[in-house]
Amino acid sequence: MHIGEITAAAAGEWTLGDLTVRRMGYGSMRITANPDRDLAVRVLRRAVELGVNHIDTAAFYFSPGGTLQVGSGAVRYATELIRDALAPYPDGLVITTKVGPGYDPDFYQAKTPAQLRAQVEENLRRLGRDHLDVVNLRILKRPGQDSLAERFAALARLRDEGLIRHLGISNARVDHLDEAQTIAPVVCVQNSYSLDNGREDDGLLRVCGERGIAFTPYFALAGARRESGAGEDHTDAVRAVADAHGVSPHQVRLAWTLHQGAHVLAIPGTGDPSHLEQNIAAGALRLSPADLARLG
Ligand SMILES: NC(=O)c1ccc[n+]([C@@H]2O[C@H](COP(=O)([O-])OP(=O)(O)OC[C@H]3O[C@@H](n4cnc5c(N)ncnc54)[C@H](OP(=O)(O)O)[C@@H]3O)[C@@H](O)[C@H]2O)c1
Repeated sequence: MHIGEITAAAAGEWTLGDLTVRRMGYGSMRITANPDRDLAVRVLRRAVELGVNHIDTAAFYFSPGGTLQVGSGAVRYATELIRDALAPYPDGLVITTKVGPGYDPDFYQAKTPAQLRAQVEENLRRLGRDHLDVVNLRILKRPGQDSLAERFAALARLRDEGLIRHLGISNARVDHLDEAQTIAPVVCVQNSYSLDNGREDDGLLRVCGERGIAFTPYFALAGARRESGAGEDHTDAVRAVADAHGVSPHQVRLAWTLHQGAHVLAIPGTGDPSHLEQNIAAGALRLSPADLARLG
């Protein structure tokens, strides 16, 4: 495949409320890991140049420290790198962010409406926007005591105020989705999910499709390795399908993700320009029923 042919448009589109996004997006969590700000800016601009119009971020994505616990040098926020690279934002760019976790230990897991508002305002400030396109409430699962009703209602009020356009939930179960939908419309669910990890969410993925809600897996490449990143320990099936198509195993993982339903959005994360191009190219990869059966 020639670089000139690579476009996120090949993956098709989905709508988040009234916002249309290409199903091949970009996850910005790792963009702060490298102290080279220019490289981060280049990757973000290249993503948009290649047709990406859905970028996932959070105010708590920063280095050194942050969710990745890596990096050196001066502090860098993903949200600010996005602003530096892309503002004034092009028409049609949808930035999805998340609230709930905070990076100050005392602020971890926002519980009150005031804390959630402060997190929304921090995202607005760092991104340089007057409203947020999509905000996911990222929760911790504690069966029996993890109702999201109060927090989701607080975000619904911020939506009514115009600070947020659409709402989603993250790290959720079907009963969380049911609960959230009694409070306000939900446009997306973002969970850890890949061909070899998080498959207990197969049912949730299906329910999202039935309800017209996007399912946005994170760690589609990293799988169970989570924050430590993608590995090279691919199964024989992934390697065989990759060889048959002349692509990398990571591209097969992304293509598999997109084949799980028209409502499934990919947000692979990378700080590497060549990985970015490979990932976007994977949106054009069409797997056969035999490939999918082999991958499981
Ligand atoms: N809701 C939540 O709780 C939550 C949690 C975590 C993440 N997220 C979101 O989901 C996004 C995706 O998660 P993620 O970035 O952690 O994991 P990921 O997309 O599954 O994988 C990223 C890893 O894959 C590597 N990689 C990317 N493209 C590659 C390629 N073509 N070939 C080989 N290796 C490749 C990256 O390293 P290189 O940088 O070297 O390419 C990195 O190690 C995040 O950016 C974030 O926006 C959400």
